[in-house]
Amino acid sequence: MNRLYNALQLKRLYQLKHLGFRYVPMIQKRTGASTVLPDDLQSLRNMVSDCMLCGLGKSRTKPVFGEGDPHASLMFVGEGPGAQEDTTGRPFVGRAGELLTKMIENGLEIPRSSVYIANIVKCRPPNNRVPTPEEAYTCLPYLMKQIEIVAPKVIVALGATAYHYLTGDKSGISKVRGEVIDRGSYVLVPTYHPSYLLRNPSAKKEVYQDLLKIKRLLCENC
Ligand code: URA
Repeated sequence: MNRLYNALQLKRLYQLKHLGFRYVPMIQKRTGASTVLPDDLQSLRNMVSDCMLCGLGKSRTKPVFGEGDPHASLMFVGEGPGAQEDTTGRPFVGRAGELLTKMIENGLEIPRSSVYIANIVKCRPPNNRVPTPEEAYTCLPYLMKQIEIVAPKVIVALGATAYHYLTGDKSGISKVRGEVIDRGSYVLVPTYHPSYLLRNPSAKKEVYQDLLKIKRLLCENC
């Protein structure tokens, strides 16, 4: 809850910065995040579809809110939509998405529809560049709210960008992959992004180990 609140505060500061303010003192008392963002996925999705809070809103075709089981125990978080995601409005539907689907269906042996999939930013960064900190922090409250609503037991951070913005830690992904990080209401497991695996197939064996670990985590107390 604190993380969501902080992310919302940061988002407000970025909004004000967009309006031209350079320094903004904290003028709003803590009133609870749910008064700002809706507590159901459909209303949140509607809000995202109208969002123009950062520059990515101007260049996107469709925002990519996320999809999957709204009660999933397992959530995957990627970096941001690519070209095919931007056209379809669905996460991970391109080549990286095909590999992610195989990781879920062959590695974890569960249907893709049983997990929830989202991204750090909801709109495609031009030329698939890494989202800027401003874009990421502006968009992050939406993801925090999705996490709060779906309430997964395990979140898999796909790649360095997802790991960095979910934790605040700038460690490289090869250093932290496979760790099980207690985040209070869920555990976070960072692993390589499927796009990285497409370029470096030899890293698939490490991801396979991570998938085995994730499978065990999901089965604890099940
Ligand atoms: N890469 C991502 O990080 N997210 C997507 O949705 C697709 C590709």
